[in-house]
Amino acid sequence: MIIDSIVSLPGDKSISHRSIMLASIANGVSHITNLNDGKDLESTIKAMQLCGVSIEKDDDTIIVKGCLLKNPTEPIDCGNSGTTSRLLTGLLSSQHLSFSLIGDESLSKRPMNRVIAPLTEMGCTITSNDGLLPIHIDASSGLEKIHYQMPIASAQVKSAILLAGLGSEDTCTVKELRHSRDHTEIMLESMGANIRIDGNNIEIDPLSCSLESFVMNIPADPSSAAFFIALAVLLKGSSLTVENILLNPTRTGFIDVLEKMGVQGLVSNQSINNGESCGNIQFIGSDIQSCNIPAEMIPSIIDEIPILAVIAAFAKGKTVFHEVEELRFKESDRLHAIVKNLQLFGINAYEEGNSLVVEGGRPTKMAKILSFDDHRIAMAFIILSLVSFEDYDIDDTACIDISLPGFFNILKDIQR
Ligand code: S3P
Repeated sequence: MIIDSIVSLPGDKSISHRSIMLASIANGVSHITNLNDGKDLESTIKAMQLCGVSIEKDDDTIIVKGCLLKNPTEPIDCGNSGTTSRLLTGLLSSQHLSFSLIGDESLSKRPMNRVIAPLTEMGCTITSNDGLLPIHIDASSGLEKIHYQMPIASAQVKSAILLAGLGSEDTCTVKELRHSRDHTEIMLESMGANIRIDGNNIEIDPLSCSLESFVMNIPADPSSAAFFIALAVLLKGSSLTVENILLNPTRTGFIDVLEKMGVQGLVSNQSINNGESCGNIQFIGSDIQSCNIPAEMIPSIIDEIPILAVIAAFAKGKTVFHEVEELRFKESDRLHAIVKNLQLFGINAYEEGNSLVVEGGRPTKMAKILSFDDHRIAMAFIILSLVSFEDYDIDDTACIDISLPGFFNILKDIQR
């Protein structure tokens, strides 16, 4: 199998969620193209429609008419989407709404306490299922300011507080534990909010006038691209160029890790789009070296660790991902799911405290992949199996639709 292609991919999922949510409270009509086409985005679109927002599709353009949000008349179903659930708590609270959030089996096991605590401090009345969904939030009495030191590195929690801050009585501040993806800050600034960033400290003023609507073509999702890039990098003689990919440094940690592994990405045509950096990037098949990945880098590769662990499985030597405990709170317990699948393929991988260790080599036996109903686990191990055996066997592929319904078509298209 050899990859030789130039590919365009669906838009970044994180920016897509934020574009729908923020366009919903903007003054006027926003036009969005290349929105991520996964199921998680359907959850966000339906949520905003339940709050009275008109969101329509015209060819490839999503048209969002910003308005004054109203209380949803039924619980909002966030499906499998952690970003929908966490960001909505802040966004809808900023509009002083009263609302309930529910989710699927996986999302109903993921912690909501991380947003319940700061929003309660801001004056919301919140009931939950012991820190899990379903959750009811009443923000109708308005929001007080908050000065919040983040106890964990999480862009979802940071974003929830910043969004809530838009509707608070006074300036709010958030101090990050580690710098995480900053799409909320970038989009708010480009829409006219008063937001100031100084290292890991962020200050946001309550909105004194409405956010401005926008036109945006969302750059390709680097978290989706990482699967195809891995395939190209692991197959000698291959080359893959991803066009117009998001190159925000809080998201390109996997490019830095690949560099540590001896693999260079060639960036061209760089530009700025609505405050976000993007461009083309090319990778070719390469030899992989093991490396040490420090805790500070983890937020910038948090969603790419499954596929980076797969790449590490082909390296010479031992790769260590330090302090990756946040992986336990994703769509599945990803730390467990990664170790289990690598071991099934005969790779020596294990947890060491909160770190992940992968002893490289080559998969020795083809195994049936256990997806754990998690899109990124499914895609990462399909790549591993294809590289080693040009074939795969997996318990379920439906979960892939969460972020990348076109995964198999793209796989076919990029092969020579
Ligand atoms: C996201 C933040 C990350 C990431 C998730 C998307 C976002 O989650 O894993 O897929 O869009 O803000 P955490 O904030 O929980 O780390």
